[in-house]
Amino acid sequence: MKIIIKDNYQQLSKLAASIIADLVREKPNCVLGFATGATPIGTYHELARLHKEEGLDFSKVTSFNLDEYLGITMDLKLPYELDQSYARFMYEELFKRINIKPENTHVPFGLAQNPEEFCIEYEKMIKDAGGIDLQVLGIGGDGHWAFNEPGSSFDSRTRVEYLTQKTVDDNYEAFYKKAGVSKEDMPRKALTMGIATILESRRALMLVSGSSKADIIAKALEGPVTTDVTASAIQIYKGDATVILDKAAASKLKNF
Ligand code: GLP
Repeated sequence: MKIIIKDNYQQLSKLAASIIADLVREKPNCVLGFATGATPIGTYHELARLHKEEGLDFSKVTSFNLDEYLGITMDLKLPYELDQSYARFMYEELFKRINIKPENTHVPFGLAQNPEEFCIEYEKMIKDAGGIDLQVLGIGGDGHWAFNEPGSSFDSRTRVEYLTQKTVDDNYEAFYKKAGVSKEDMPRKALTMGIATILESRRALMLVSGSSKADIIAKALEGPVTTDVTASAIQIYKGDATVILDKAAASKLKNF
């Protein structure tokens, strides 16, 4: 695992975007795995800049997102700040800014009639696409990877997951509060790729920013590999793993 510490969020975002851009240039039909959350926004905007100013071409790229809340989906009739779906997030922050084909983008469908069946289908779609070449990842405040909450097995596949109170609280502060949604009305379940699904990707690019993540990322990278902190699975990742942190997020690491 390669750990890179950058001075600030802007530099982290630039480096992450350049790693993704290099892959897209090298393998124009690559399969990218995307994550949501505040952290990758700078990376996505930099990719959009590279597309606009340098012609970075996403027309042959396929993408799969890590997760989506259960019970909601993108509604373009709603203003963005009132649409909390991850599908909308991806559309606004990346997809509408680049030339990826909508039919090549996949975000788990939050209104799936039969979520369990959908999850099996999602795994199949990833396999049929040839697997994920590079998976973008973050870390949740409780150590989750995608929405694999503490206790999720390292053998887990795409499935329905219950969110912890910590995750609901974090997401409320980051996104739902400004939309005027009360905590009681927030989704408590999500569709998420499993840890095993993530571990099968060929490259992992984990992005961590800010002092609020310093303790949990130190546990994930330097503590025991444990399902209590599912992102600690990065330590057993067999592919090529790169973790980019800004200084604030790296401040509790002992070995750096
Ligand atoms: C959500 C997503 C995770 C992401 C996490 C961190 O919970 N499901 O995949 O890693 O948010 O988000 P942020 O970057 O906003 O801290």
